Amino acid sequence: MKLCVTGGAGYVGSVCAATLLEAGHEVVVVDDLSTGNRGAVPAGATFVEGNIVDVIDDVFTEHAIDGVLHFAARSLVGESMVEPATYWHDNFEVSLHLLDRMRAHGVNSLVFSSTAATYGEPDQTPIVETAPTRPTNPYGASKLAIDYAITSYCQAYGLAATSLRYFNVAGAYGSIGENHITETHLIPLVLQVAMGYRDKIMIFGDDWPTKDGTCVRDYIHIRDLADAHILALEANTSGTHAIYNLGSGDGYTVREVIDACREVTGHPIPAEVAPQRAGDPAVLIASSAKIQDELGWNPTRTELHRIVRDAWEFTKELGDASHGAR
Ligand SMILES: NC(=O)c1ccc[n+]([C@@H]2O[C@H](COP(=O)([O-])OP(=O)(O)OC[C@H]3O[C@@H](n4cnc5c(N)ncnc54)[C@H](O)[C@@H]3O)[C@@H](O)[C@H]2O)c1
Repeated sequence: MKLCVTGGAGYVGSVCAATLLEAGHEVVVVDDLSTGNRGAVPAGATFVEGNIVDVIDDVFTEHAIDGVLHFAARSLVGESMVEPATYWHDNFEVSLHLLDRMRAHGVNSLVFSSTAATYGEPDQTPIVETAPTRPTNPYGASKLAIDYAITSYCQAYGLAATSLRYFNVAGAYGSIGENHITETHLIPLVLQVAMGYRDKIMIFGDDWPTKDGTCVRDYIHIRDLADAHILALEANTSGTHAIYNLGSGDGYTVREVIDACREVTGHPIPAEVAPQRAGDPAVLIASSAKIQDELGWNPTRTELHRIVRDAWEFTKELGDASHGAR
């Protein structure tokens, strides 16, 4: 297929673009480089630099696109609390524009990057897709709003779509990994300490009701995540909006993650405990049973040390090109 990958210069989009190319698809990456890196766009992809709103019509006209994988978004929870307008515009309005232009050009297949943040504070874990969606921040709300729009476009216009609700994506795929200007994810932050870019890692609360008092999160390897996108694309059915959680089903505490990073890097990685952050759930774990049952998704890189090792190899290779080094 000929596929448009929005946000293909970002962390998740670039690994998915590489995986799609390996699977034999043609890929056109659309990215405005607002948080992405030009060097992450895989060789073999056509790169169109620009905001979706400005370039998508030309991309659809020039490339006879069969489907879209929509990764482009703002995704910092804290930033969304203080700049909600940016999130409603960039995540909701831009995505709605994309849906309309897909419709106008007859592009009928979509895989959308959604998030665990659509659920908010869970009543039960592991979280299943039928759990209540009560986002606690504009980031999660803007993603959920687009899910509602996608459902109605499927029902009324025959769009074929899948939303994948990721939990914590981690690891790297060869020379592609996480290199955000503003990094908020635990594993890359801990590895920045091992690289000497930070003095220590902060642990927000060690008095949570968990086995060692620190928060529990579900980490999914980026390459397993990419495989799920290919399965979703192949299963997309006109008139249907499928929604799947993507996680490992296993949780690790913050201390377990830091310990794994110590073992993998051989660095002592100093850590300091700070008070709990408001709005942090104690435990966030996904049930991925639905996508495993329905699409046969079979994550194979679920072991924490494997995830950290791949992220560490990438981090070392990146060296001072890391945004964390500046
Ligand atoms: N990384 C995670 O752990 C995680 C977890 C849950 C959901 N997600 C979702 O996955 C997607 C990708 O996340 P990521 O971590 O790769 O983020 P990222 O910031 O690395 O990638 C996003 C990319 O989109 C581009 N972009 C943003 N707005 C654009 C626009 N209007 N036009 C063109 N390009 C634009 C950015 O330049 C960037 O390259 C996002 O939708 C995010 O909400 C990520």
